Amino acid sequence: MKILVAGDMVGSPGRTMFARVAGKMKSAGEVDFVVANAENAAGGRGITPALAGELFQAGADVLTLGDHVWDQKEIVGYLDREPRLLRGANMASACPGKGWVTVDTAKGAVTVISLIGRVFMPPNDCPFQAVDRFLNSVERKGRVIIVDMHAEATSEKIAMGRFLDGRVSAVLGTHTHVQTADEAILPKGTAYLTDLGMTGPKDSVLGRDVESVLRKFVTGMPSQFKVATEDVRFEGALLDVDEQSGKAKRIQRLQVAFGSEP
Ligand SMILES: [Fe+2]
Ligand SMILES: [Fe+2]
Repeated sequence: MKILVAGDMVGSPGRTMFARVAGKMKSAGEVDFVVANAENAAGGRGITPALAGELFQAGADVLTLGDHVWDQKEIVGYLDREPRLLRGANMASACPGKGWVTVDTAKGAVTVISLIGRVFMPPNDCPFQAVDRFLNSVERKGRVIIVDMHAEATSEKIAMGRFLDGRVSAVLGTHTHVQTADEAILPKGTAYLTDLGMTGPKDSVLGRDVESVLRKFVTGMPSQFKVATEDVRFEGALLDVDEQSGKAKRIQRLQVAFGSEP
């Protein structure tokens, strides 16, 4: 099973680029399943129900979020209605929505789990205990299991990869918007990448207009971060997973510039 995963997509440049890559690869039959992190899809801050609908239409099978999950108020009620849009599984259980979903495909069921790190991040429950509880639960799970580890610290993400090695198909980091070059198949068969990177404008500071971010750093004063517009790229990874065993066969890092889509 070929699975495309996209790093945090930022604003309308990110959404457009995601649709170009995921749409083309899906309609050409090059990918069976698409997971994308959409926590910055709405002008850089969260996601709205309408935009989530557009991204599902564009080819996403499951959308994950992160620490920006609550930035758009309309999403609160929608999370309970749309099981394919995930908040962190280790957020308070009283939060709307869920942190995992199992989706049926022609090649078998795929489970996606969203986790949020705790190092240099707003407080949440323990992601290690949360994922362990889920994997040991009776909840229906596919053989193929993809984990989005949304976290700041490389150590916490690598630790999660090792913690889940052999128990899930892939652990893929999001949140930093900077792609790492450490893709690997871990010893027990789990594909791993510390950060998928960003789907959005690269001529920026993490997707935002350089001047507006510099103003904040240089003066310490609040500044409205506009979404940047130039050098738009798709960043993520392409996985090949054995749908019988759930083990990963291959992970390939992707960086695609606007206009040179596959
Ligand atoms: Fe984030
Ligand atoms: Fe992000």
